[in-house]
Amino acid sequence: MFFLGMDVSTTATKALIIDAAGEVRGVSAAEYGFETPQPLWSEQHPDLWWQGAQTAIRGAIEMAGVRPDQIAAVGLTGQMHGLVLLDKHGKVLRKAILWNDQRTGAQCEAIHQVVGQAAFIRISGNLALPGFTAPKVLWVKEHEPEIYQQTAHILLPKDYVRYQLTSEFAMDKADGSGTVLMDLAARDWSGQILDSLGIPREWMPALYEGPQVTGIVTTQAAAATGLKQGTPIVAGGGDQAAQGVGVGAVREGVVALTLGTSGVVFTSTDKPFIDPEGRLHAFCHALPDKWHLMGVMLSAAGSLRWYRDTFASGSNYEALLAPAGDIPPGAEGLLFLPYLTGERTPYPDPMARGAFVGLTVRHGMAACTRAVLEGVAFGLRDSFALIRSAGVEQIDQVRVSGGGARSALWRQILADVLETELVSVNTTEGAAFGAALLAGVGVQHWPDVQTTTDALITVKEKVLPVKDNVDRYQDFYGIYRDLYPGLRESFNRLGRL
Ligand code: XUL
Repeated sequence: MFFLGMDVSTTATKALIIDAAGEVRGVSAAEYGFETPQPLWSEQHPDLWWQGAQTAIRGAIEMAGVRPDQIAAVGLTGQMHGLVLLDKHGKVLRKAILWNDQRTGAQCEAIHQVVGQAAFIRISGNLALPGFTAPKVLWVKEHEPEIYQQTAHILLPKDYVRYQLTSEFAMDKADGSGTVLMDLAARDWSGQILDSLGIPREWMPALYEGPQVTGIVTTQAAAATGLKQGTPIVAGGGDQAAQGVGVGAVREGVVALTLGTSGVVFTSTDKPFIDPEGRLHAFCHALPDKWHLMGVMLSAAGSLRWYRDTFASGSNYEALLAPAGDIPPGAEGLLFLPYLTGERTPYPDPMARGAFVGLTVRHGMAACTRAVLEGVAFGLRDSFALIRSAGVEQIDQVRVSGGGARSALWRQILADVLETELVSVNTTEGAAFGAALLAGVGVQHWPDVQTTTDALITVKEKVLPVKDNVDRYQDFYGIYRDLYPGLRESFNRLGRL
């Protein structure tokens, strides 16, 4: 018996097959790009995902060497927040507006006005941010009324692939929360928000918990993908919730720290904790009756990539980072702000910018490199502080993953700045693996998500904080904290120029 997890990401659709013991047996991805037709815009045609899904599923089946009838279920995950609009025949009405699109500042303000900001946060758990789905719906209403009038269905990216597979309009609650059209505590669409924004409830798909079956593969989809007709398609989760499942962040106090282009600090919660200022994202988890809190730094390993490409083009990360290990903590009094693509947590500000602060003639390349690594760690510490103040009293373990976590130096800096033990786990396939586990739970191969992740996900390596470094970083973090409030207005004015 095998399970397939599919991740419909911004850069590729990946299919991954695991066996009944949770071992990865085949992985295949079909890559694509996204378009930025205007400044701040980011779009992708849903056809890319469906084509990508067909290629990736066939590739994974071939690599795993399994027969389609041995695949007991498929679980879906993918990029969150992207707006897919379909007409009453299920036809795509326009390119999807993606999670990294920033055009909807005015619509976010309008939402806060119409619903009332405090009420909006209380119901949805979040501020309306340009990345989320709801403001995108209002943008289309305002700027493309002819498309809005034809709209009959709203979906998220992976749920468009689900629709192609099953002909059902369905969505999991974790990804659904990222539309900010849900009542977080009730785990259902919010009548109050939908009514206030004038979005018809019948446009919204049926909502499911992560490990529930949402439909079966149709004859047509079977012919397109090579899957067997009738294979159950399980709800799954948005990529962050599925990543949480994939590394076992399914209990309050176990934090998943993902150091990819963006940096995500994620913890499961037993109740819907909401930061009254909306600085953290509060969403349903991909497990029934669990929620999650999440801080998102937009440029984490992305900051390091920008730094390398700009100042050390052609060098590999190992060569770039090695000299930074010889610089003492604090980078000789140099600080770096990582807001290179604006920020979400703790400052929901698309106009925020990056900075080196404290440069002197003493600082060479190695100190600058170290400052970048430390600046990202300080920014992530802000999310940890918010998670604690939102009500998660105890953080028991931090599970680190993503490309940036491959650096031992960066892992040590993170352990010292965050004052916590960091562990890495045996599973490295993230969200797609989480989706495959949800598929297995969905057809009762495994009893529930927690038991499954406890059994399959094990700690591989630990990094402990070093006391002297922790003390030193306290002082630097204090100065780091003061920088953004002092620079915010300058960033704004620079942006306006
Ligand atoms: C989460 C988020 C990203 C996207 C990209 O809030 O915006 O994780 O889902 O994959």
